[in-house]
Amino acid sequence: MPIDENFKNSRKIAGKHEGHDVWGPVESPKVLGIHGSVVAVDFDICIADGICLDVCPVAVFDWLNTPGHPASEKKADPTREPDCIYCMACETQCPVQAIKIYQP
Ligand code: F3S
Ligand code: F3S
Ligand code: ZN
Repeated sequence: MPIDENFKNSRKIAGKHEGHDVWGPVESPKVLGIHGSVVAVDFDICIADGICLDVCPVAVFDWLNTPGHPASEKKADPTREPDCIYCMACETQCPVQAIKIYQP
């Protein structure tokens, strides 16, 4: 299942992480929610493929260790979300469609 493109209506902001929003529900370590509102990464879908880190021209992502998560033990965290130039490479290339870009 890809990231829910309507998640901003169906979820609530549960907190902040590294300056970006975290959309719940969050029940760590097994349920982690969606990180980011411009560069949104569904941590519960991410399998740590890593192509998003490779293709992003402005290095928006950092690895975040998530031990105990059923899909993968690290996630692509949109640490530098404000730097996104909307090239869309990450959204297009993520093999599990865990990323959705919202251009303001
Ligand atoms: Fe990078 Fe994805 Fe934005 S590849 S520039 S975070 S659209
Ligand atoms: Fe995860 Fe997809 Fe990136 S699986 S590491 S969000 S390419
Ligand atoms: Zn985060």
